[in-house]
Amino acid sequence: MRILVTGGAGYIGSHTCVELLEAGHEVIVADNLCNSRKESLEMVKRITGKDVLFYEVDVTEEQVVEKIFRSHRLDGVIHFAGLKAVGESLEKPLSYYYNNLVSTMILTKMSLKYDVNRFVFSSSATVYGDNTVPFKETMKLLPTTNPYGETKAMSERILMDTVKADQSFGVTLLRYFNPVGAHESGLIGEEPNGAPNNLMPFITQVASGRREKLSIFGNDYDTVDGTGVRDYIHVVDLAKGHVMAVEKLKPGVEIYNLGTGRGTSVLELVHTFMEVNELDVPYEIRERRQGDISSYYADASKARIELGWIAEKTIEDMVRDAWRFEKKQAEGK
Ligand code: NAD
Ligand code: WQD
Repeated sequence: MRILVTGGAGYIGSHTCVELLEAGHEVIVADNLCNSRKESLEMVKRITGKDVLFYEVDVTEEQVVEKIFRSHRLDGVIHFAGLKAVGESLEKPLSYYYNNLVSTMILTKMSLKYDVNRFVFSSSATVYGDNTVPFKETMKLLPTTNPYGETKAMSERILMDTVKADQSFGVTLLRYFNPVGAHESGLIGEEPNGAPNNLMPFITQVASGRREKLSIFGNDYDTVDGTGVRDYIHVVDLAKGHVMAVEKLKPGVEIYNLGTGRGTSVLELVHTFMEVNELDVPYEIRERRQGDISSYYADASKARIELGWIAEKTIEDMVRDAWRFEKKQAEGK
């Protein structure tokens, strides 16, 4: 298949390009590089030995998006492009609503116009809100605590309503849990701009000496050791889930959780990182971070049963691969 990957130069997008190419698909990337670098696509080519056609475009611009749809007979779209920092979304709500919703609407409109019936959307476990665990696709969604989360919930609704009105259109909503790790080559991985918001890149930056100390946000939650529990998923497993989803996509809407189904606490993750990589990660316990939920993880059975997908990599793989990427970054690749 020929797949348009929006946001394909980014963290999850670049790993998905690798898996798509290795599965024999053709990949066209549309990315404005607002949170990524063109070099990641060079690395994708190095890993796979295959070419990627790259358009440096903003997918909120209808005319340029239409040009791509007009120029290539596409079989599917995987829409990763979006702004994703929860804290920033509270400061710049309009940018988040504009970027994340307009891009989804334009890509949906063009998919309908050019008869592209496979649309995979990057959603997030954040749409469940503070629900009971494990999170299951059939649950009633609760409000999220920030504009970023709302853009994901709204994009899901836009896509579901579109399918209701046009039954030939096919949409798969993938709700990711906490993606971490990097490709085992160490050539692509997560490269946050400025101070990382997420736990794993913060750990790797402390381990490499780029930052002094990790702050652990709260140790008084009702969890195994008092720290927050999340369902960390290796980005390569996540990327493989996209390939399976786009290959199996049929008319209608399907929703799949992509997680491991297992929860890991902050302290468990930090200690596994230190043991596997034989490194010290200094940390201190701080107050809870506003908006955080104590614990959540996926019920990942639907993806296993219907897509045949299962997260294969362990927490040890995640911390090893995340550290390999950080080291390569420090060495200049
Ligand atoms: P990322 O920032 O690394 O990748 C997003 C890519 O989209 C970047 O390359 C960026 O330059 C591009 N982009 C943003 N707006 C664009 C626009 N208007 N036009 C063209 N390109 C644009 O983020 P990621 O972690 O790879 O996330 C990919 C998707 O998955 C996002 O939609 C994100 O919300 C979603 N998601 C991420 C996580 C996570 O923890 N990383 C969890 C759940 C969902
Ligand atoms: C994980 C755990 C923190 C940083 C976010 C988004 C979510 C999704 C994934 C996009 C929590 C703790 C963190 C630190 C810490 N993204 N922590 N010190 O908040 O579960 O999810 O990314 O859709 O929408 O909200 O991920 O990595 O920030 O936090 O103690 O420096 O680590 O409190 O328990 P989160 P995270």
